[in-house]
Amino acid sequence: VDEGHGVKGVSELKLKTLPELFIQPVERRLDVSKVLPNELIPVIDLSNYEDPEVMKSICYAAEKWGFFQIVNHGLPLDIIDAIKDATHKFFGLSTKEKKKYLSQNTPSKNVRFLTSFNPDVDKAYEWKDHLSCFYVSDEEALQYWPTICKYQVLEYLKSSESVIKKVLEVLIKGLGIQELDETNQLFLMGSKRINLNYYPVCPNPELSIGASGHSDVSTLTVLLQDQIGGLYVKKLDSDKWVHVTPVKDSLTINIGDALQIMSNGRYKSVEHKVVANGHDNRISVPIFVNPRPSDVIGPLPEVINSVDNILYKHVLYSDYVKHFFRKSTNGKDTIDFAK
Ligand code: SIN
Ligand code: FE2
Repeated sequence: VDEGHGVKGVSELKLKTLPELFIQPVERRLDVSKVLPNELIPVIDLSNYEDPEVMKSICYAAEKWGFFQIVNHGLPLDIIDAIKDATHKFFGLSTKEKKKYLSQNTPSKNVRFLTSFNPDVDKAYEWKDHLSCFYVSDEEALQYWPTICKYQVLEYLKSSESVIKKVLEVLIKGLGIQELDETNQLFLMGSKRINLNYYPVCPNPELSIGASGHSDVSTLTVLLQDQIGGLYVKKLDSDKWVHVTPVKDSLTINIGDALQIMSNGRYKSVEHKVVANGHDNRISVPIFVNPRPSDVIGPLPEVINSVDNILYKHVLYSDYVKHFFRKSTNGKDTIDFAK
């Protein structure tokens, strides 16, 4: 696994049973008895995003679910198809090619191919390979990212910009902030990371996990998933899980810890996990829209004015992210760093 074959390499061995390394403790698996089969997370049509009713439904979803799917988001479908295709192509490369992006070999610290979330510290590995790219500039990306996907990834990042702005604009207006201007854009969306995730067919999927329970550290995440499904979201104030059933041509938006902190807990960054499955190879592509590493984040002044209790302190965003990547994921525990 750590030699560049990844979990895809293990999957292709067609083993009858799951290797020990991937067997998760019960509490990290999905407890199917806690899934609410009839619930759906909100699906919101973004075509009239400035309509007060639509704005209300977006803010409501961010408060009560922390997750929603958007349709008619304006991101061209051919660009979406191209990045899905490029993701399959990257993971279809030979081990020799992918190995070039292992942390010990990669030509840039901003691009890395790995298995599991944090293979250095994860006790049991997640059943997932991914390529993680921190965007610095087009030039850097073109120089260092894998040729087989770099153009598609850059194009996708560029065209997601307007969707991100629409959603952020609505969310900050809900907090009483007039507009998404040049200043607040910096700490709301001043840096981006994009991951290409690959969850291959798994023997004994019920004993493993594709991505164990965590919340994102982003301001918000724009997630593209294919039609296979497997992402589950924890319903707020409960121990129940709801499936993010794939909706054709949609994107999934989830609130991350940074926006939960900035909104003083009004918008929720909720725990989610991805199951492994025994039949299909699944891909997903999240864009993590983040503050800049050098930003100090905390409850925003506009928010503080209208609340009695300030729930979070100010932290340097790069410290927050370092704290997240230092350990295995463990539900919602990262945010304790800002308490
Ligand atoms: C994640 O949140 O870690 C991945 C989400 C997904 O693959 O659907
Ligand atoms: Fe996530």
